[in-house]
Amino acid sequence: MTIHIGAAPGDIAETVLLPGDPYRAKWAAERFLDNPRRVNEVRGMLGFTGTWKGHNVTFQGSGMGMPSLSIYVNELIRDYGARTLIRIGSCGAMQPHVALRDVIIAMTATTLGNPSRSIFREVNYAPAADWSLLRDAVAAAEARGTPTHVGGIYSSDTFYDERADLNEQMVRHGILGVEMEAAELYTLAARHGCRALAILTVSDHLQTGMALPSDAREQGFSDMVEIALQAAFPG
Ligand code: HPA
Repeated sequence: MTIHIGAAPGDIAETVLLPGDPYRAKWAAERFLDNPRRVNEVRGMLGFTGTWKGHNVTFQGSGMGMPSLSIYVNELIRDYGARTLIRIGSCGAMQPHVALRDVIIAMTATTLGNPSRSIFREVNYAPAADWSLLRDAVAAAEARGTPTHVGGIYSSDTFYDERADLNEQMVRHGILGVEMEAAELYTLAARHGCRALAILTVSDHLQTGMALPSDAREQGFSDMVEIALQAAFPG
């Protein structure tokens, strides 16, 4: 047990998939895992462990935003031995050629402020995905025929953003989409020698103002889980 995770030692798999929403962790575990069992419910941040094609997998909610994800990922890595961590979440599209329901696989995650900021101070560290996970996720997405974009995303600290000028700079510099967690996930994975990736479904579009209805979100989420599992266990 850690401060925020009630799982017993050995209850968390080396491969952890991290939706922001704890109910998505429950939904995915029930749908994709054999013999899923609940391993965490502290603060309602549900976690489940089971097997997928014989491989141990944990789905653990991360909560919204980098400070929340940072707590769970620190404890998963340091105390439970997680080695491969894949965020499966949603994002807002920032480019006209990126459509609702498309998948974005984040090569890099630009950020302004995050829990690791105090370490880097004046340095603009470049949080990046693990190459082998990125490669295998792209291959899985292409094999499924899922419309997929690979490139940089923006991990923001605010959903209700007051800095329109910042978003404009992101768009201008080719950032594909905005979410709120990946940069800290990539930074922590790098710090601890783990593999990390963020796979995101476009749920809303910052340029058109359009958003996906909830049933379509579910289908997009299912695609992402499959891509993530195939990337974690290729071949
Ligand atoms: N902004 C930040 N995070 C998000 C968004 C957004 O528009 N959509 C989904 N996650």
